[in-house]
Amino acid sequence: MSEAGIQTRAESGMHLRDLWYMAALAAPFRPGVLQRVMLLGEPIALGRNRSGELFALRDICPHRGVPLSAGKIKADDSVECPYHGWRFKKDGVCSAIPSLVEGQDLDAGKIRVRTYPVIEQDGLIWVYMAAKPGTTPKMAAPKVPMIDARIRWTETQTFACNIDHAVIGLMDPCHAAFVHDHWWWKTRPKVKEKHYAPLERGFTMTRHKPVKPAYSLLGEVSTEITFELPSTRFEIIEGALFGRPFKVVGLTVCTPRDAQTTDTIQMFYWPGWLFFIKPFFQLLGPTFIADDRKIVELQKEGLKFEPSLMLIQDADQPAIWYHRVKKAWAESVENGTEFVNPVQEKLLRWRS
Ligand code: FES
Ligand SMILES: [Fe+2]
Repeated sequence: MSEAGIQTRAESGMHLRDLWYMAALAAPFRPGVLQRVMLLGEPIALGRNRSGELFALRDICPHRGVPLSAGKIKADDSVECPYHGWRFKKDGVCSAIPSLVEGQDLDAGKIRVRTYPVIEQDGLIWVYMAAKPGTTPKMAAPKVPMIDARIRWTETQTFACNIDHAVIGLMDPCHAAFVHDHWWWKTRPKVKEKHYAPLERGFTMTRHKPVKPAYSLLGEVSTEITFELPSTRFEIIEGALFGRPFKVVGLTVCTPRDAQTTDTIQMFYWPGWLFFIKPFFQLLGPTFIADDRKIVELQKEGLKFEPSLMLIQDADQPAIWYHRVKKAWAESVENGTEFVNPVQEKLLRWRS
């Protein structure tokens, strides 16, 4: 790949394994709720039993394939398939086969449905998508860097594209003036210079003073924007208002439901006393994400013809890094070797 610019085919949208994906918001999953969620093209029966524990099962009954999510969570906390009533515990083990009569010695305990590691934190449900079913997670799920992180505002929009186009749109530094063409987000184009550094599985635009007028709502602030595989973008804004220091954290994830459907989910966290900023998010947030959604829908009109695409310096450097980090991760998982982040510290310059 030349440093001046690279040509790519329309991105593959390959789904990486051995990583945590944000499957759903936790709030709708009250005890007794069982729902199908799609992740990386796999159907998962995600639920919370009556004891309050989350579980994630492959949403295909091992008997005859009916989705377990169409069944019920029973009083003993097992999931009952709606076809013949086989029951499965949260560890995937079959605990009952109602049709069996005395003398039929089929051992239900030997029948299992695949389970996925699942955890809940910061109001979010994360599911680990292992390369080999049954392996334990290699790392902790992404954590919001805030004590008592509570979701104050959230918005989900479904993008009709693969994960790569959603992610690249998210990290693209030069589309705002054209795609988010609103008075509250616009600035006069000027040369920007931003310092980037590697992170464990990605990179960060290190702490700097943002120039967008929308930030002035929070007074004098500084911000850092991180990106890590598979699609976790944190924006960590720090400042002080009325002499009181605060942190506002934005988390955006691109959750690939299948090869051509990606949910872009954005959450904002702030301390309770900043309640007065909420109307701003309610008013502008959905429009902002819709801008990004509409441009990928438009992009699809071109991608249908499988053109080769370009990534140029320095504006598309984050996208180039994304491809490189992704490739390095895929190879490390495939070969069972240690992942080495190919990103090097760099100052990027562009006009936007
Ligand atoms: S298909 Fe699930 S119990 Fe028969
Ligand atoms: Fe955008």
